Amino acid sequence: MSDKEPVRDFATDWDHTDPRWVADPYPIWDDLRRRCPVAHTERYGGGWFPTTHEAVSRIANDTEHFTSRTVVIGNGRPLEDAPPAPIGVAPPISSDPPFHQIARRLILPAFAPGPVNALEPMIRDLCRRLLDGLVGHEEIDAGAEFAQFIPPAVIIRMLGFPERDEDLFREFVHVVLEGIDQPVEQRIEQFAPIEEYFAVQIEDHRAHPRDDLTSYLLNVEVGGQKLAPEHVFGTMILILVAGIDTTWSAIGASLWHLATHPEDLARLAGEPDLMATAVEEFLRFYAPVSMARLVKEDVDYLGCAMKRDDWILLGFPAANRDPAAFPDADRFVIDRRENRHLAFGLGIHRCAGSNLARLELRVALEEFLARYPRFELANPADVTWAPGQVRGPRHLPLRLASLEG
Ligand code: HEM
Repeated sequence: MSDKEPVRDFATDWDHTDPRWVADPYPIWDDLRRRCPVAHTERYGGGWFPTTHEAVSRIANDTEHFTSRTVVIGNGRPLEDAPPAPIGVAPPISSDPPFHQIARRLILPAFAPGPVNALEPMIRDLCRRLLDGLVGHEEIDAGAEFAQFIPPAVIIRMLGFPERDEDLFREFVHVVLEGIDQPVEQRIEQFAPIEEYFAVQIEDHRAHPRDDLTSYLLNVEVGGQKLAPEHVFGTMILILVAGIDTTWSAIGASLWHLATHPEDLARLAGEPDLMATAVEEFLRFYAPVSMARLVKEDVDYLGCAMKRDDWILLGFPAANRDPAAFPDADRFVIDRRENRHLAFGLGIHRCAGSNLARLELRVALEEFLARYPRFELANPADVTWAPGQVRGPRHLPLRLASLEG
């Protein structure tokens, strides 16, 4: 990434991996919203970045002009008819209508409130154990030692994989999401261990079916037929990727906010009933996920001459800061009443895991605040943010004051 030309003007040359964008994208987006509001780049083979709530919503709802064939920006483009079309590499997120609906309906029951809420005691227990492991430390890395452990443990449990493989899981997510600039051959090489690992788990589940998402995907039938193996694999990969660093980022960003805004920390620690409202504002203000589309055919859209196979970076986080959609959009309002944010996207691909994400975020914050009602950044310069389409703090050194302290 370091050998790239630095961005001169984000309006005509944006790059979501540019160090300034990674460190603090909000002033850049505010400026673009005022000037463009759809920015352009020649990087990655050409792309557009809408920054308003209206433009993001319009594109997310328009499956006629835009495809989800791939949702992570890279230098190449997957071929339109390449297998496993029409399933896509990671159904349902990479599927277009009409197949999308079939793929989405299949997984929705696993993420309905009933099964998700049943995970609460396990998540709470996990958070407590993680915090127990940090007892006696005056400084901790809340990104690397707390937030990042929660989502993999939950996903491993849902898929029915061995708990000891959590570290491996985090490596897989890193490979899938953060290696976007690497050449295709290297990407294929990096994916090999993931495929091998999943193949072993799938075989084990075929031999010993049990009550988990992997066995469900292997046995569920659509029109009297079991799912194609690439469908099962693709959905498992999606759940791995969609469920881990997204939520880890949301937990980390919320803790970062509390560490840097003592008045919000004091209020939330003192008024636990505020948590549900605060969670929505954390999601609005620090929405971690931007997803991509490809333009299907040349089209003039929102005043832009879009070309077939141009990228669209759907800036859900930028839309969430649009003053036309939210009063005081650039202010974090911990008790904001009306909050129709786009952190989970919108349209047919709206996040299927939002119940689970909200639960993990709420429980993680509740447990952290119960243990540490006062904390601050130990050294702001040591905080690092993940680059790419999922943004959150990876290293978050905090100085803690426990209940006793
Ligand atoms: C704070 C955490 C999360 C955020 C901010 C988030 C955000 C998003 C967004 C913006 C989309 C829309 C993608 C698009 O339009 O292309 C999406 C889709 C999706 N998310 Fe999440 N997500 C989170 C957590 C999760 C979790 C925990 C899971 C499940 C384990 C999950 C599963 C999915 C799935 C399956 C889709 C695809 C839905 C479809 O294409 O129909 N997400 N998510």
